[in-house]
Amino acid sequence: MTTTDAERAAMRRALTLAARGPRGVNPQVGAVVLSPSGEIIAEGWHRGAGTAHAEVDALSHLTPDAARGATAVVTLEPCNHTGRTGPCSEALIAAGIARVVYAVDDPGEKSSGGATRLRAAGVDVESGELQGDARALLHDWLTVQQLGRPHVTVKWAQSLDGRAAADDGTSQWITGPVARADVHRRRSLADAIVVGTGTLLADDPALTARTPAGDLHAHQPRPVVLGSRSIPVDAAVRRHPQPLLHRPGNDLRAVMAELAELGVQRVFVEGGPTLASAFVDAGLADEVLSYVAPVLLGGRRLALGDIGVSTITEARRLTVVSVDRLGDDLLIVATPHNRGEN
Ligand SMILES: NC(=O)c1ccc[n+]([C@@H]2O[C@H](COP(=O)([O-])OP(=O)(O)OC[C@H]3O[C@@H](n4cnc5c(N)ncnc54)[C@H](OP(=O)(O)O)[C@@H]3O)[C@@H](O)[C@H]2O)c1
Repeated sequence: MTTTDAERAAMRRALTLAARGPRGVNPQVGAVVLSPSGEIIAEGWHRGAGTAHAEVDALSHLTPDAARGATAVVTLEPCNHTGRTGPCSEALIAAGIARVVYAVDDPGEKSSGGATRLRAAGVDVESGELQGDARALLHDWLTVQQLGRPHVTVKWAQSLDGRAAADDGTSQWITGPVARADVHRRRSLADAIVVGTGTLLADDPALTARTPAGDLHAHQPRPVVLGSRSIPVDAAVRRHPQPLLHRPGNDLRAVMAELAELGVQRVFVEGGPTLASAFVDAGLADEVLSYVAPVLLGGRRLALGDIGVSTITEARRLTVVSVDRLGDDLLIVATPHNRGEN
């Protein structure tokens, strides 16, 4: 790959612009147009489904012919399909762009092929510039493209002896304030938060992401309740700032696909044990978060129930990503060996 210092700097700028766009069905993309001498002459980013793509947004700031011979630096391969907007590859060709530098290949079945189209039209194309940074920004969107569903984190809090609640079903709070603040911070990074009706009826959770002072985080995950039992009219979750989604069936894959269609890229599953087990059993847990408190509860309320393991050779082996001490508690983050193959 041969790119100039100006192109690399422009890609950094394009990544910053991309992050201004909303998370949703469409990817966050940024674009910068450089003059033949390497100066930035236009910038753009994608503001969500139905609006101009980043390249077209950048070109819209230029007078006709101003982009002739220029270089477009884009965080994602320019698309090659007509959706709600036209193909970006055609817009770049029509504007007279001579060179395109992009970071990540578009994995979309319909939208990919932009680089091939550009090359066929005589445009010089380079890919892979700052690919790692761009992939980090697009990680969850790329997961949706690859798996047809959001990235799923399954979280639970457990006693040292692996219980998620005391024998009478009470579980608030097994862990301390530092661990709970960490949970709320992670909730604020998710697009949806999922619980089963068992947890909803036992704990009446608000399912909001709050600071230790009790204020709402700027971003709130959409609350999702799964299970056939009805949600009480006065349930706290009904006062959530995001619209509540209640799905009575137990087809987790169907619900995950539906959430992806709604633009949900990252799901935080907060249990309880029945639902957490169902996600693990279905191979839908991309990441497991186990908050372990130095407390013993004994009894029947195990953190996980049936996950389809009847003998040790069927054990779900995980790779530990991190172990952190949060106040008196531990947080273990682990991912399955076969992540992404389900
Ligand atoms: N320690 C922790 O981290 C933690 C977290 C949350 C809750 N808890 C505790 O856990 C207890 C509640 O546990 P729980 O297991 O009864 O609650 P749950 O897992 O939240 O809810 C179970 C319900 O989820 C519904 N469901 C939807 N899709 C399903 C599927 N594919 N497979 C299985 N069930 C599905 C079913 O509802 P329907 O029967 O209505 O169809 C099922 O009865 C409470 O004591 C609570 O305090 C602990």
